[in-house]
This record gives sequence, structure tokens and C-alpha cells, in this order.
Amino acid sequence: MRKLENHSLKDLNTFGIDVNARDFIVIEHETDLFRWVESHGYEDIHVLGGGSNLLLTQDIDGYLLKNEIKGIEIIVEDEETVLVEVGGGENWHEFVLWAVEHGYGGIENMSLIPGTVGAAPIQNIGAYGVELKDVFEGLNAFHWEKGEEWVFTKEECGFGYRDSVFKRALRNKVFITRVYLRLTKQNHSLNTSYGAISKELTGKAVSIRSISDAVIAIRQSKLPDPKVLGNSGSFFKNVELSKETFSNLQEAFPSVPHYIMDEQTIKVPTAWLIDQCGFKGVRYGETGCYEKQPLVLVNYGHATGAEILEFSKKVQKKVQEKFNVRISPEVNIW
Ligand code: EPU
Repeated sequence: MRKLENHSLKDLNTFGIDVNARDFIVIEHETDLFRWVESHGYEDIHVLGGGSNLLLTQDIDGYLLKNEIKGIEIIVEDEETVLVEVGGGENWHEFVLWAVEHGYGGIENMSLIPGTVGAAPIQNIGAYGVELKDVFEGLNAFHWEKGEEWVFTKEECGFGYRDSVFKRALRNKVFITRVYLRLTKQNHSLNTSYGAISKELTGKAVSIRSISDAVIAIRQSKLPDPKVLGNSGSFFKNVELSKETFSNLQEAFPSVPHYIMDEQTIKVPTAWLIDQCGFKGVRYGETGCYEKQPLVLVNYGHATGAEILEFSKKVQKKVQEKFNVRISPEVNIW
């Protein structure tokens, strides 16, 4: 366990917002958590992963615990699959590259998603037709209020679209220490259903590695590199509408793109709604909507979290006025 005071978080959040953490504590092992709770209790705690799904609007006055629990280990292996245990502080993309390198499939579509493995279940990360829950087996988390480590099954995590119990009932109540994922050893369950992937793979052999390479190429061409232009990926979630609400929307805007989720739910891309409001590439002071993907809000260098939040509210308001649809942030706002 390492402790720092008034530590700048500028390099620890992908928006590049410059705020300080009063007490910054690096957790490298589960035992650090037990020691922490014994000496400080569990009040005033925030947990930081890769800082890639986070908008910081003020200094952190409480305790900020940075998850740096590492380790990748195969727990069980059979002819078809491997069960892998991964430390919550591992970088997600580096873990994907490890899997690709070993020929383990299931997460290649989620290449280059920023952030840590421990943060991945919180919003059930997903991209190009695959979500974390598709390979998820369980996780261990330190439960602050109980003062001990708990095992969560997949069902107990309550996964939904960019959602889990850790965003709702257990918000800020746990520290995810280890995640268990089941990966395949065969090339048989590869997912190339997403249009952009099949296009990128035209004329190439389909494999775990070629899908990962394709996803990396697509993401690099569409999403800004946080090292160059601060951002937090998609700032808003896509919108899930009831059949009825959707048909009203479609009547007024016949060209609205949409995906049928189930009998009752239709998903509408928020990028389209924002685009139609004329925000694509629009700059507002030090922030704005990215020119190639308006769902991504960017920091041109000196934005404050408050400024980005204010701009996001403008976007939300305009979408509400034009379409009578409420869009909500995907990022966590502190
Ligand atoms: N669109 C526009 N204008 C644009 C861009 C997109 O109208 O400038 C519309 C198009 O209709 C397009 C649709 O939006 O078909 C969807 O766009 P895209 O395929 O780029 O994906 P997305 O729904 O905007 C989601 C995830 C991304 C993920 C991609 C690929 C959410 C909130 N975002 O974006 O995840 O990489 O799909 O699977 O679900 C993230 O969560 O941070 C993230 C980047």
C-alpha cells in the first residue's frame, strides 16, 4: 500500500482533467484492503480504475483508492475453454492482447477499450456485438459495509446494457479485486456480425487475431486517442425506447436508425440524435463533440469537468427539445 497527499489526477483520467485527490492510496493486494478498513473504516471512499469512464468535476476530498491488483492466471482448462482469473488493476486492452497472443477467444471484439479489468463489469463493457457478460463467470469484490471479500456470480451482477448492480444498489459499495472470464480455445465462436468488422475483414482470414486487429483499426479511425485529445469514449448511452415511444419518434423522423432489441425495446443511436441537432464537430470553449463521432465529448486541453458537464447538459437539452427523448450519461460523474 502506498499513500500520497494532494495528488494530481491529471494523468489518471482519460479526459485529462486536473483535479487533486486529498488522500490517494494505491492498493496492490487484497491484504491492503483489509488493513485499510481496519484502520480507516469505509466512509468517504472512491475507487479509481483506469479513469477512462469518469468525468471529474471537483477535487476528491475523501479517500481515493487506486486499484493496482495485478495478475493473470489460468484456473481451470479443458479441451475447449480456459477459465482465467485476472486482477482488477490489470489494463483491459493489455489483457485482451495477452488472450489474443495465447489464442484464447471471446474478448477480441473488445480490443482497445480503455480502462481496467476491475472496472469492466461495472458498466458491462461492450463493443462490436460482444459484451463482457458473454464471457463472464464471476468476480471477487471487497464489500465495504461487510468488511470482507464476497464472491459474485454472473446472476448477482445484474448485467444490462452498460449497466450492472455495481452502478445501482452496490454503487460505491465494493472494490472489485479479481474477475473470472471463460475464454475459448477454438476459433469457432467468433463474432463478425457487426457491419464494420465484416467490412474490415473482407478478403482476410477470420481469426481471433484478425478480428482484434480489425477492431483496433476501426476504433483508431473513429475514436480519438485520449493521449492526444482527452475523452472518455461514449459520453452518453444509446437510447432504449418502448415500441410505442419509438413509433411516435419514427413518425416524426422516418429516417431514424434503430435496432430491435426484443419485442418491447428498440435501441436508437444517440450519436444520430446528437448529429441531427448539429453538434458533430462543434466546439464549445475547451470542450465539444468529436468530429467523427459526436457521442464522444472531448477536452481540447484546458477544459474543466464543470465545463464539460455544462456542455453535456446543453446537448441533452437540445436532443430533448428536438426529439422529446432523454439521453443519459454513460460516464460516471464525480
Ligand atoms: N451515427 C451518426 N453519426 C455519427 C456516428 C454515428 O448518425 O457521426 C449513428 C449511425 O446511425 C451509426 C450509429 O450512430 O450507425 C451507431 O454508431 P457506431 O456504430 O459508431 O456505435 P455507437 O452506438 O455510437 C457503440 C458503443 C461504443 C462501441 C461501438 C461499437 C455505446 C454508448 N457506445 O457506439 O462504445 O465502441 O458501439 O460497438 O454503446 C464506449 O462505450 O465508450 C464506446 C466507445
